[in-house]
Amino acid sequence: MKNKTAEQKLFGNTCVNNHRLMIGGCVASELAKQYGTPLYVFDIDYAAGVARAYADILKREYPSSTVCYASKAFCCTAIYKMLSPLGLGADVVSGGELYTALKGGMDPAKIYFHGNNKTESEIQFALESGVGCFVVDSARELELIEKHATRVQNVLVRVNPGVEAHTHRFIQTTTPDSKFGFSIADGTAESVILSVEKHKNIHFAGIACHIGSQIFEQQSFEIAIDKMTDFIVRLNSLGVNVEMIDLGGGFGVHYIAEDKPLTPEQYMTNSAKYLLKAVNERNITPPHLIVEPGRSIVGEAGITLYSVGAIKTIKSLKTYAAVDGGMFDNPRVSLYDAQYTAVVADKADEKGTHEYSIAGKCCESGDILIDGITLPELHSGDVLAVFTTGAYHYSMASNYNRNAVPPVVAVKNGQSAYMVKPQTYEDIARNDVIPEFLEVKQ
Ligand code: LLP
Repeated sequence: MKNKTAEQKLFGNTCVNNHRLMIGGCVASELAKQYGTPLYVFDIDYAAGVARAYADILKREYPSSTVCYASKAFCCTAIYKMLSPLGLGADVVSGGELYTALKGGMDPAKIYFHGNNKTESEIQFALESGVGCFVVDSARELELIEKHATRVQNVLVRVNPGVEAHTHRFIQTTTPDSKFGFSIADGTAESVILSVEKHKNIHFAGIACHIGSQIFEQQSFEIAIDKMTDFIVRLNSLGVNVEMIDLGGGFGVHYIAEDKPLTPEQYMTNSAKYLLKAVNERNITPPHLIVEPGRSIVGEAGITLYSVGAIKTIKSLKTYAAVDGGMFDNPRVSLYDAQYTAVVADKADEKGTHEYSIAGKCCESGDILIDGITLPELHSGDVLAVFTTGAYHYSMASNYNRNAVPPVVAVKNGQSAYMVKPQTYEDIARNDVIPEFLEVKQ
């Protein structure tokens, strides 16, 4: 994807105009000048377009359905303001995500509360907020919902259908030894579902799974649908009605040219058609369908802008170009060996001539953002744009080395504004306290 010619579309809706990288009608290097670097930039229209496509296509193919945005991909109040009017619900996995979704105006009835170890206080908060559904992942959770619910609460039970999707092992979720869900194969899922009946404050509404993330091949989703609908047949035979099926998210996006994701249209059409076929073949009532895309809605909407600082050549080995960000704004490279591509923001269509390793500024040898990329010759002060950083970047950022988490600037039709303001050093030290007894007398 590097060294594209002018007019050519890069990732998401980014493009090149007069050699300069453009996003949401804004010149990337000017955003860097105006807001400083490192900077996350988020293209509102791109994300809204994908979300709308998911919602519209699924409604067309499978009318009884809900698209729930997986908050973990990128969580801030503005995202819910943007997604709610499009009819999307939200998947949240913590009190913090729930709080943010509510603050952003998400209808609690459209919130699905996931997580393998919800705390008692999170469960109470979710019940008080009136979340639509808990996705239960432990027997303890059932007990806690029963204890605190003041009216009947809908729950889905997270099951493990045992599908090994082709993706990094850390983002696979239905291997036999996964911490998520109850195994269908060993009978645990069935006995947990049967146990729901004894809770008078809980209504079993259906089953949920999520087979992994950054998946390209439709086949993994089809295997999951087969296993989930077989399980519905089994539950029906035990007299258990299944009103809903939640198939999770996991739809892949482009990080590098070799990535070949399907479009939201293909992901939704294929899954909906396959599910309809599966329920017809098994002669079961079509359940309400929930899908939970995260990465594919926000991933390619985001880029990160960095300034190049130190450039250092290790003779006959490699040249490092260090930027003012690193693993604190993008931990995905160190965690998953994730690969990215980048351009020099003002030479976005210029042919690469020099090989670089793009290093971060953290005190870790492993803090490398791109290990080997051909770019035009870099100079200190150049703005480098890394693509596809809208998902699992801001949401996974940290203050490691007490670096500030970069702000997020939204762009749309040539306008720009903060979605998340910059963190100050004062913000970083805000919760630090010096205990009175700390002072050690000499
Ligand atoms: N639903 C459930 C229950 C999930 O666990 C996830 C992601 C999703 C939906 C959304 O999946 P998506 O459409 O975004 O692939 N931090 C990792 C990804 C972890 C995903 C965890 N669960 C990364 O940066 O690649």
